[in-house]
Amino acid sequence: MRVARRVAWVTGAASGIGAATARRLAADGASVACLDVDEAGLESVVAEIGRHAGTALAITLDVADAAATREAAGRIERDLGAVEVVVAAAGIVHAQADVADLDHDVWQRVLTVNLTGVFLTVQAAIPQLRRHGRGVVIAISSTGGLRGSAGYAAYVSSKHGVVGLVRCLANELAADGVRVNAVCPGSVDTPMLDRQAAERGLDRDVASQAWARAHLIERLVTADEVASAVAWLAGDSAQMITGLALPVDGGSLARPPE
Ligand SMILES: NC(=O)c1ccc[n+]([C@@H]2O[C@H](COP(=O)([O-])OP(=O)(O)OC[C@H]3O[C@@H](n4cnc5c(N)ncnc54)[C@H](O)[C@@H]3O)[C@@H](O)[C@H]2O)c1
Repeated sequence: MRVARRVAWVTGAASGIGAATARRLAADGASVACLDVDEAGLESVVAEIGRHAGTALAITLDVADAAATREAAGRIERDLGAVEVVVAAAGIVHAQADVADLDHDVWQRVLTVNLTGVFLTVQAAIPQLRRHGRGVVIAISSTGGLRGSAGYAAYVSSKHGVVGLVRCLANELAADGVRVNAVCPGSVDTPMLDRQAAERGLDRDVASQAWARAHLIERLVTADEVASAVAWLAGDSAQMITGLALPVDGGSLARPPE
């Protein structure tokens, strides 16, 4: 038994890791609420889940919108039942810029979506998780949540923040039977990497090869591989795992310094 018959709430579900996770949890038998700002992308993921006889509900929202998130919590409970699995995958990255040149508004928006968005999602879900007396929260951080890099201070700070938030939530919710973990992917083959390559004026294939070489296993991570880690953390096999920041990075964090 993995997540069969449970209700799952997945943000960032219109694309990449969130979409792969929504598809995977639905295939495992969960009813999946799919949330994203991208309405068209969301409709296509929900339709695909439906074609495979899964159950999914599309909710278009900005994870930085506290009122919309609270409203979504009510709708999920009404339409699917109380949530037991929360996956916070919505996230954005910014154009490369050192802190000296980083625009304050960009800093603010990245922190608001990537960190406050996770906070608002989990906060809205907590009453339903507590009602069950069991549940799982998984936030998608990054290897950038575990080490520094030049040019991405807002993103890296937000992802370190997600790891800190997860560790605090693990403390606060353990007595309620709720486990809270982060997944920290390396470079994952999703549209986010298309945008990063384009923003730097790099050919996507050349950029992908360079990103892949940062992994000990020299290829990009797939979104499905991240979804597998999420599905494992969500399932009963991981019952004693909480407060963990789990790298899914082809060993990049284990690399010796160059
Ligand atoms: N792709 C990578 O290499 C990589 C590596 C480590 C971590 N991550 C993290 O994984 C998560 C998913 O990224 P991805 O690679 O699948 O990217 P993606 O761009 O394919 O998907 C991100 C999704 O989040 C949605 N989103 C963005 N802002 C939102 C908002 N304010 N409200 C609601 N939805 C919003 C987008 O519409 C999109 O559907 C992100 O948190 C990202 O930081 C990605």
